[in-house]
Amino acid sequence: MDEQRWNNLCATRTAYEDSTEESGTGPLEMFVEVSAQCNLRCRMCAINFDRRYRPAAGRPTLFTPELFTKLTPMLRTALRCYLFGLGEPLLNPNLVDYVSACSSAGSEVWFNTNATLIDQTIANRLALAGTDAITVSIDGATAETYESIRRGANFERAVAGVRALIEANERFGRPSVDVSFVAMASNFKELPGMIDLCAELGVGSLHVEPLYSQREEHLEAHYARENLGVLGPDAVDRTLDAAILRSRATGVRLTSRFVAEHVDPDYVQHSLSEQPWWRCSEPWTAVWITSAGEVRCCCLNDTSFGSLLEQPFEAIWNGDLFRDFRRAQQHGQGPSSCANCRVNGRVRCSPYLRAVEPMIYRPLLGPDIPPKPDDDAPQLEWPPPDGVVGDPLPVVGHSRARAHGHDLQVMIDHTVVTDLGRHGVVDGSRFAVSIPVPYLTEGAHMLWLRPRGALEHHGWCHRHVHFWRPDANRSLAVGLAIVPIPRTRILPLRSPTIEIDRARQPVRVLRERRGLDVHGAALVDLREASPGPKVLTARMGGKILEARRVLVR
Ligand SMILES: C[S@@+](CC[C@H](N)C(=O)[O-])C[C@H]1O[C@@H](n2cnc3c(N)ncnc32)[C@H](O)[C@@H]1O
Ligand code: SF4
Repeated sequence: MDEQRWNNLCATRTAYEDSTEESGTGPLEMFVEVSAQCNLRCRMCAINFDRRYRPAAGRPTLFTPELFTKLTPMLRTALRCYLFGLGEPLLNPNLVDYVSACSSAGSEVWFNTNATLIDQTIANRLALAGTDAITVSIDGATAETYESIRRGANFERAVAGVRALIEANERFGRPSVDVSFVAMASNFKELPGMIDLCAELGVGSLHVEPLYSQREEHLEAHYARENLGVLGPDAVDRTLDAAILRSRATGVRLTSRFVAEHVDPDYVQHSLSEQPWWRCSEPWTAVWITSAGEVRCCCLNDTSFGSLLEQPFEAIWNGDLFRDFRRAQQHGQGPSSCANCRVNGRVRCSPYLRAVEPMIYRPLLGPDIPPKPDDDAPQLEWPPPDGVVGDPLPVVGHSRARAHGHDLQVMIDHTVVTDLGRHGVVDGSRFAVSIPVPYLTEGAHMLWLRPRGALEHHGWCHRHVHFWRPDANRSLAVGLAIVPIPRTRILPLRSPTIEIDRARQPVRVLRERRGLDVHGAALVDLREASPGPKVLTARMGGKILEARRVLVR
């Protein structure tokens, strides 16, 4: 990240935390409505029903190159540009140029697409222009269901689009490709099949999005017919469980608010009963630019802060209307135009503020990428490659033969920070250690495991990780937490019960015997825990072993 972006990120974080009316010099995230028209007529999509998208409303159908030049000041601060709104971005003949402009300016480029217009040539051009991530929307695992929802689409063409993107990724290293599925009563039973489809296509991740209700008669009626509440919680849970099993079997990551927590499957009901623990950050961090040049803060909100065709961006971003809007956000619920977001549980907190995503730091790796570990090196199971880690830092792995704790050292970058004999648990060939790292700076680091005294890289293994310290009072827990079980002479060593906000978690225990003593480590899988601030409590034999405040992500 260059200095200007970094300074702006810091200023924006401070403005958001302090609720000032003025934010930094520009947005961290920019959404650009490159197309306000579509080649499909999906049943749930507002573009087909919203008056503002009808030809009579006079909204330009495409974002023009002339208007795009007005985005230049925002490209200096934006960490990520999303080149889509309502409509299909591939309909804009200038899309590749826009990708290239955002990417060359130093911003990441992401967008959603229905992929029906993507062939190998366009996929390659998008990759070469610098597209970082593409989400393909597929709402059914069978042609019949998919085509009944995505009216006008052809299932095979969408699948061919995904294959072309995956092939581009294999050739050029980008874009990353995932799939998004809007969960509805009529397609939900195909969720396990969606996982298999993703696995077959080589897509690593499937996101299940709740259906939105919007203040439009047709869409509200559609919501009433199609929200998951219609199926009932038991049927929803059964399908989710089957999908989770497929996810584990295939390795396709399943992400969804439904998976994370046992929420009311009528997501609007759930959202209305829940107060988010954060204040929406969009007014400080994001802009949504319509094809008519209006600057708004998100796609579900109608408030316009001015037009780029009439004013320079700088006059809009910290101008009176934006400041009024931020002031209204400081207090409670925010302006009434935010109702759509509240109803749909979309009150957003930018990943760059409560940051647990690695992308704001450019990888450390340059020309010095370490060699692949040799076959006899220990294997790291956790953290995952490029994973996000917190303090304490959990490390889990195994070695080919029985491991000896004092012989295995953990290094962060160039420094040995512990050995498994000191802090860890070695159970046969498996090991786990939870390393306190109060000295570690946020950002990208290289985690190493090496046999003591081994020549550089021989028998070493490594992970590139991103370290975050969300705040002083909470530790960050992403995916896995380790609770050390203290030494005792009582055999056999029992397993502690571990709760996150009183919900009992599955636990795996590693045990190590040293002389007459035995100690252990309880591994808590958090991949399906709901995100947010929680209390992790571990109990053993009626005593509290550990109680800590964690931010689960
Ligand atoms: C409006 S589309 C625009 C991009 C592109 N045309 C596509 O289909 O991906 C953006 C995303 O919104 C999703 N979407 C559309 N209508 C929705 C609704 N009522 N509830 C939730 N998501 C919706 C789509 O599935 C898609 O992933
Ligand atoms: S393809 Fe995307 S923009 Fe087009 S109708 Fe479907 S969801 Fe809406």
